[in-house]
Amino acid sequence: MSKVLISPSILSADFAKLGEEIRAIDGAGADMIHIDVMDGHFVPNLTFGPPIIEKLRPHTKKPFDVHLMIAPVDPFITAFAKAGADILTVHPEAGPHLHRTLQAIRAAGMRPGVALNPATPASVIEPVIDDIDLVLVMSVNPGFGGQSFITSQLKKTEQLRRMIDQTGRDIILEIDGGLNAETAPKAIAAGVTAIVAGSAVFQGGPSAYAENIRALRPKVRV
Ligand code: DX5
Ligand code: ZN
Repeated sequence: MSKVLISPSILSADFAKLGEEIRAIDGAGADMIHIDVMDGHFVPNLTFGPPIIEKLRPHTKKPFDVHLMIAPVDPFITAFAKAGADILTVHPEAGPHLHRTLQAIRAAGMRPGVALNPATPASVIEPVIDDIDLVLVMSVNPGFGGQSFITSQLKKTEQLRRMIDQTGRDIILEIDGGLNAETAPKAIAAGVTAIVAGSAVFQGGPSAYAENIRALRPKVRV
């Protein structure tokens, strides 16, 4: 199996020192930085937008894995590209023209992703699977960190694994919400190649980050 990417969600970081926190998780072995953008309308919480992402960009060379929980998306695509997003993931429910949105993300120089809420079926990505580089399985309802993993999403993950394998393309299969040392192995067994974790990475402060990230990686048998 190829390496499982760990993408810590800065939603659980100390917002008063985000640059420092990003440098700390970079040094602790993060593969990507997961940035949750919320608008208080698509989800019942507010976070940050392009100006803050732009300020964070110089703090790491690791890819910015930006998860948009906003509606609409299209008017902001260029701003996220300018701010330094590498992957831009959208929810299909955020607008009426998912295909157009994905094309616009690609045209702006970013890698498009689609996020599936717990009640959204895997089949939604079928018509656009050749246009995306990442599928994000939400294993909690989006909006907050620290929620419990919804086990029913493992079956959907297995289904998505089969759909991705059929394309022969290297599409990242990422899972987000309630991931910890107990749930991550189940998600990996179901076929994910990237794990988002907020509370499980940031608990215990900077001195614990490396061990927290290690605990999410697949165990190597010797
Ligand atoms: C939830 C966000 C997640 C969140 C995960 O809407 O998309 O990225 O930060 O937090 P944990 O890992 O604490 O469940
Ligand atoms: Zn997220």
